[in-house]
Amino acid sequence: MRKAVLELEKFDLKLNTNFVGRNFIYCEEIDSTNTYLMERKNKGNTDGTVILAERQTDGRGRKNRVWYSAKEQNLNFSVLLTNKKYFGKNLNLINLASSLAVSQAIENLYQLNAELKWPNDVLIKGKKVCGILLEASSQGSKIDKVVIGIGLNVNQSMFQGEFNLPPTSIKIEAKENIERERLLAEVLNNFEELLEKSISKPDEVLREWKSRCRMIGEKISITENDETKYGIFDDIDENGFLLLKLRNNQIEKIHLGDVSI
Ligand code: BTN
Repeated sequence: MRKAVLELEKFDLKLNTNFVGRNFIYCEEIDSTNTYLMERKNKGNTDGTVILAERQTDGRGRKNRVWYSAKEQNLNFSVLLTNKKYFGKNLNLINLASSLAVSQAIENLYQLNAELKWPNDVLIKGKKVCGILLEASSQGSKIDKVVIGIGLNVNQSMFQGEFNLPPTSIKIEAKENIERERLLAEVLNNFEELLEKSISKPDEVLREWKSRCRMIGEKISITENDETKYGIFDDIDENGFLLLKLRNNQIEKIHLGDVSI
């Protein structure tokens, strides 16, 4: 059997969590790590399971977009949450916590300024370094699991194709090769801490998220179901929804959409 490209012992040594990533599934190739965790037949996985793939043949982005990523260069993985205590009133806080976890890891390890774009993109110098796809399933009216899929561009040095935001990687911005094992552990460590905080101190998670989002106060447009709305990014409310100030000064609450400055 071929040795894993990702050095699992190195990753394990840096992982400081209680449950996130403690059940770790490593694959060379899969259709999509999100699809795997969302499928009912794989429901035996425990809370906090992480699956990482070196290559996805059907990597999925938000709004049915395709997620492209060069094999073995980046970190494409999904985290499973089944403990309902994290689901709260809505899943927005999990969305914010996951992008914040990535941005903190990039700043702490490489001293790069990693900004956040609502609802959950991570940007460096206005270019997208990470995208997150959050999916959930429910039984009856109750959410029974949430899958957070993270696509983080780490060591890829060239991007081809059409993107709605120009892409970049940490290697391009830091001008050095990045150790994926340490970065992955750091993201998961931060994520578990922020998940707990989203219950005990949700205001703090929101405050930290907002401090990294430079769009607040800017004129933006939001496209949702082919409809575009214009206004000023007024704030994020206590539930993590975007508040858009319209021309008539009315505030509209936005749930999910594509935001551009
Ligand atoms: C986006 O910005 O549109 C979200 C991209 C999310 C990509 C990740 S890669 C790991 C996980 N598996 C998928 O199929 N998608 C997510």
